[in-house]
Amino acid sequence: MRTKIAAVALGGLLLALPAALARAEPPQKLYELNCWGCHGANGEGVKDTAPTLVGVAKFLKAPGGRSYLIEVPGVSYSKLSDAEVAAVMNWVLGNFSKQNLPAGFTPYTAAEVKRYRKIHLPRLAETRKHLLKEIAAESAGDSGGRDAPPRGFGARPLASSTAR
Ligand code: HEC
Repeated sequence: MRTKIAAVALGGLLLALPAALARAEPPQKLYELNCWGCHGANGEGVKDTAPTLVGVAKFLKAPGGRSYLIEVPGVSYSKLSDAEVAAVMNWVLGNFSKQNLPAGFTPYTAAEVKRYRKIHLPRLAETRKHLLKEIAAESAGDSGGRDAPPRGFGARPLASSTAR
């Protein structure tokens, strides 16, 4: 009886251990603990705080977009390990942006994240604007809606900014 009570008490103690001590959190949990506060429970974004993550895979269409998603401060400077960043970003893309994930998308790896994290964006707002412009140009002509097929994506080299 006593040991049972002790076991239950110990169980409770373990559950109460700070999340930081727990290893290998599932990506959804990583999102809840590290991203949700700014981006919202469903990645819907929070006005004047953080943009929506719904459809964020559109950045993958622009040259430099793949690294940009990791270079943003909220991601790059998070306390997460490279492997955790890769996991949470792959989860974000698959959950909030499944509808426009490019067909040939290869998930981020820890090694790739490590490389991108070394790059610091001195003019973040401008880089973001530039990427959004590239994306708009790339998808000009299609509705941009969630039903739009990934027409032509990957079929030709992405246009460079000087090409048109
Ligand atoms: C302190 C608030 C904050 C936190 C925490 C935060 N972000 Fe962000 N995030 C932003 C802001 C603001 C931007 C827009 C770029 C910028 O100004 O930094 C952004 C941009 C992004 C982008 C690029 C999308 C775009 O439209 O530019 C992605 C992807 C992203 N965040 C994912 C995450 C993930 C994943 C986490 C958790 C590991 C996270 N963020 C944590 C505030 C935050």
